[in-house]
Amino acid sequence: SSEKTFAMIKPDAYLNIGKIISMIFQAGFKINKMKMSRFTEDTAGIFYGEHKGKHFYPTLVDFVTSDVCVGLELVRENAILAWRELLGPTNTQRAKEEAPESIRAQFGSDGTRNACHGSDSPASAERELGIFFGSDSVMPSTSLQ
Ligand code: CMP
Repeated sequence: SSEKTFAMIKPDAYLNIGKIISMIFQAGFKINKMKMSRFTEDTAGIFYGEHKGKHFYPTLVDFVTSDVCVGLELVRENAILAWRELLGPTNTQRAKEEAPESIRAQFGSDGTRNACHGSDSPASAERELGIFFGSDSVMPSTSLQ
């Protein structure tokens, strides 16, 4: 049966959004929601709470707060697994070696700047969709001047 996942195009992949969305449609996903927003230190801390205290956490927060992110609600059979498959390994270097066609291999640059995020379980998909799309006051839509 059809499943939802949360996908996020991170600041390093912003200029490749067109190619990434093409890959998303090519893989049979429907895009149910899409929103551009910028994390603050606080909202990044909510979203990435499970990584607080890890060595890469400060770098991760600097990175995701550096510019806008594009959040997407994707719908498909086995969406969670299928999106993670399309992403490839979290680490860009590993992605280049093990899955050269993957999004991270093509558009990522290192362990932190890895182009896109994907939920790892139905519970985290619900949680992450709730943070990004649940309230425009938590994650305000961009309003560029
Ligand atoms: P993401 O799938 O969004 O989940 C957590 C993020 O933290 C991950 O992608 C990377 O951007 C970053 N990250 C995870 N592990 C490491 C690591 N070992 N070193 C640096 N950054 C990491």
